[in-house]
Amino acid sequence: MSVQSADTSSTTRLAGANPHALHLALAQLNRERLCPGTPSESWRDDLLQRAQLAVREGAFLESERRAVIARAAEAPREPHAFVAWFEALRESGPGQHDPLFDYLAEEAPYEHVRWFVQQEVAGEAGFDDLVALTQLRMPDRAKLELARNYWDEMGRGKAVGMHGPMLAKLADAVGVSGTDPSYIVWESLALGNLLAGLALNRRYAWHSLGALGAVELTAPTRAVKVVQAIERVGIDRAAAHYFRLHSTIDVVHWNGWRDEALLPTLEENPDLAPHIAEGALMRLSAGARTFARYRRELGLDARRPH
Ligand SMILES: [Fe+2]
Ligand SMILES: [Fe+2]
Repeated sequence: MSVQSADTSSTTRLAGANPHALHLALAQLNRERLCPGTPSESWRDDLLQRAQLAVREGAFLESERRAVIARAAEAPREPHAFVAWFEALRESGPGQHDPLFDYLAEEAPYEHVRWFVQQEVAGEAGFDDLVALTQLRMPDRAKLELARNYWDEMGRGKAVGMHGPMLAKLADAVGVSGTDPSYIVWESLALGNLLAGLALNRRYAWHSLGALGAVELTAPTRAVKVVQAIERVGIDRAAAHYFRLHSTIDVVHWNGWRDEALLPTLEENPDLAPHIAEGALMRLSAGARTFARYRRELGLDARRPH
């Protein structure tokens, strides 16, 4: 399970460097943008350096967007037809029903499940903050739905119910807390950088609405398999709570996102349909690329052609 990539995807060509270096740099950029800081003498130089990285981020996001533009253009503009198109991504979207998850649920040894958890936790962008950033200046109904979603992420005001720390508990249970990002495959870093990039740059606000909706739509199917994997290999049952919860709560979250965030937004402005569709497809494609890399790292492709 190495972290070096021999892959020469569009991201590689675009970066003019190896994608692992690019995505480590973007992950660092996002930490600096998101984590509370303090004034520094070097603020001018820091800002200029971040601006250069933000340009590379923009090139990455545009490259990801170009890859899905044609499929997104097929999405209907009529709001109800659009949400039906979107919902169909649960079955036919990129990365859906990836054999990785059957392998994890049914066969993977403890070490493989642990490695998977390590990659997922370290690449995680923080759904709560992504929702908080995305709702800025959104129309009222979408804003309210994102507020309800955020409140759930916050455990409805109770620390024990907060989603972020639940995931941290799982990482603790398998001893992978505080993993150095250099140990994370670039595809997983890229997935986090994609979601952060869409949420932080307001030119992609509608893309972010689509990307986060795609997470709510597709998470339960995978979460059920991950719970099976965690329980089967004997990891502390309580540690699986994050995935057990998301196998059900995200069904409710998707329904809310569909009816209160997507539908009213499109009823007001159907021209937003391709942006929301692109965001969803960008998120699912980045997920599919990550699953493919995990399969290669775990030796799955060699033993079970799909
Ligand atoms: Fe959550
Ligand atoms: Fe959710």
